[in-house]
Formats: sequence, structure tokens, C-alpha cells
Amino acid sequence: MEIAMTTSEKLKSKPDDTGLGFGTIFTDYMFNMDYAPDKGWHSPRIEPYTSIEMDPATMYLHYGQGVFEGLKAYRTESGRIQLFRPEENLKRLNRSSRRLCIPEVDEAFALDAMKQLIATEKEWVPGAPETSLYIRPTIIAMDPFLGVRASHTYRFFIILSPVGAYYPEGFNPIKILVASDYVRAVRGGVGEAKTPGNYAASLLAGEHAHEAGYTQVLWLDGVEQKYLEEVGSMNIFFVIDNEIITPELNGSILPGITRKSVVELAKHWNEKASERKISIDELIDTHAAGRLKEVFGAGTAAVISPVGKIKYGDQEITINNNQTGPFAQKYYTAITDIQYGKAEDPMGWIEPVA
Ligand SMILES: Cc1ncc(COP(=O)(O)O)c(C=O)c1O
Repeated sequence: MEIAMTTSEKLKSKPDDTGLGFGTIFTDYMFNMDYAPDKGWHSPRIEPYTSIEMDPATMYLHYGQGVFEGLKAYRTESGRIQLFRPEENLKRLNRSSRRLCIPEVDEAFALDAMKQLIATEKEWVPGAPETSLYIRPTIIAMDPFLGVRASHTYRFFIILSPVGAYYPEGFNPIKILVASDYVRAVRGGVGEAKTPGNYAASLLAGEHAHEAGYTQVLWLDGVEQKYLEEVGSMNIFFVIDNEIITPELNGSILPGITRKSVVELAKHWNEKASERKISIDELIDTHAAGRLKEVFGAGTAAVISPVGKIKYGDQEITINNNQTGPFAQKYYTAITDIQYGKAEDPMGWIEPVA
């Protein structure tokens, strides 16, 4: 399919690279494509960034039938623009779509569309340290219909946003609160899909955590409320003795691409890494025994985020003296060096754009 291009008459002024926040500024163009049962995915186009006109009965607005992705384009020192494992995001998009009864997209075509959009917007990829162009592919149900069933029509769009640090703490340790009153997802539900309802379900616990002075929520499993699952927008890793451990994928955890990259790097370096169930009691006990060396989150937004304090019930534990530890530092440096083209890419994770 040929991607049509409509140019904009007036371009926005670009922000200062050094003062970027997260997710507030959008570029001049977006990618759009529509789905209808008789045409399949059709009319792919790059056009000026604009609002989406919707009937108030649009199914997405009522039943949340939608999926999205989040990844980044990085500017290297020599000015090249590159993506980190974008095919993994597109695979996950299709897995999420299958769970939400949304028709899949052709991954190779979607990657090509994304690359064309970023190439059009390459001036928008910031160059200051730790900045990048955040990419948000999204699919939403478009039928104007109030009955509950899967929509027949959909819109797939990609928008771009130049971003800086996700957490105001930067690479300093964050404080997280274990949710005891709420759960994010249950096995058999939609926890492993990247779909808006999971985020809506997490907001109240997130607000309580903020009010209590914590950055994010650490979720327990939805069945026994015993096993650690993930953080608000990151997967979680624990270093116990010299082994890195992350909760195994069980259907209610989002399979993060940063998580996968940490596990693959650990194997590449012949380090001890396991994906297994880990309970909050084990965490507290290994901490009391002096064996819990580090805790860190892993996700596209902050890459690696050291965790300095965890609160569970009345108990707050401090990890590694509330300092960034050597494991978090090593994985952060290795992954960001590959993303920004400062190091070789031994794993074949980089996809050049322009
Ligand atoms: C709930 C949740 N878990 C984990 C992650 C980390 O996934 P990734 O490394 O693919 O960004 C994210 C972010 O996408 C997320 O929203």
C-alpha cells in the first residue's frame, strides 16, 4: 500500500531540547489508516496533526476497545535517527489487538509507516542528553453504536512527542508503595495487553500513592495478593544475592520490551537471571537477611529506574541505602548506550530510520 502525504501549510515552532517534559508537545504530522470489514486496513496517510472527529456514540469512548504502544526514536551523536526493537512493539500491538478483538495490522507495513513518519519529522527528534522522540501507535474502535460487541470499523494512528525525563527524580531512586486495597489485573483478564482500561484501573491507587509521597504503585497479583507483579508503567527486577529476578509472565503482567532486553543481556553476559514467582514476604525476608541488594524498574519511559524505598502496610524498607546500585547502573548504561549509538549493538536491537 502506498502511503499518501498531505503537507502542512504552517509548521509549529520546535521546543528547546533541554527543557522537555513528557507527553505534552506533539509534532506537525501524524499517520492515519482506517479499517472496514470490506476493505481491510486501507487509506494509509501521513497528514497534519489534527483532532479526530467522532460521533458521541463511538464505541471506543464507551467500551474502551482500543490498544496502544509506546517506543522511542533516538538521535545519535553523529545525527542518525534510530529505533530500539520496534518490531517487538508491533508484535505486542497485534497480541493486544487479538485480546481486544481488533483486526491485526501487517507488522512490516506498520514499521515502514512509522519510519516514514519519523523521517518526515526527523527535525523533531531532540538531541540533548536523555531526550528522545516518543512514538505512540494507537488503534481505536470507531463504530457509532451503543450495543456491546466488537466494533466493525477502526482507526490506527501514530503520533509523536519529543520528550525528556519521565520521572522528575531522573536516575535517582524512586519510592514505591505496594497496593493492598486494589489490584491492577487478573489472570485471564487484559493485564498483559496494552489497553487503556488497565491504566484507568490503576489511577486511584496511583493517586493514593502520590498523596502518601510515593512515585508509583507496586502491584500484587489479583488472586492471592501475595506475588509481586509490576509497577505502574514498568516491570520490576530484584537483585537477591547476585541473581537478578523478575516476576514470570503469568497473563496479568505486561510483557515489557525493556524487561525482555534486561533478561537477554543478563544471559548474554552469563549472569544469573530468573523469571519466577516472587512474593512480597520473600522480598521482606530477604531484605531483613541483608540479601536484597537492589530493586529497579524497567520500561521504555525511564529505561531503568532504581527503587530506593518500598512501603508495604506499615513497613517501609530502604534498599541499598537509597542509592543507585551497580546492577541498575550497568543495565541502564548498556541499554542507553545501544539506544543512542554510543556502543556496538551486539544483540541486533537497532533499526535505523534516517
Ligand atoms: C503497565 C506497564 N508495564 C510495563 C511497561 C514496560 O514495557 P516496555 O519496556 O515495553 O516499555 C509499561 C510501559 O510500556 C507499562 O505500561
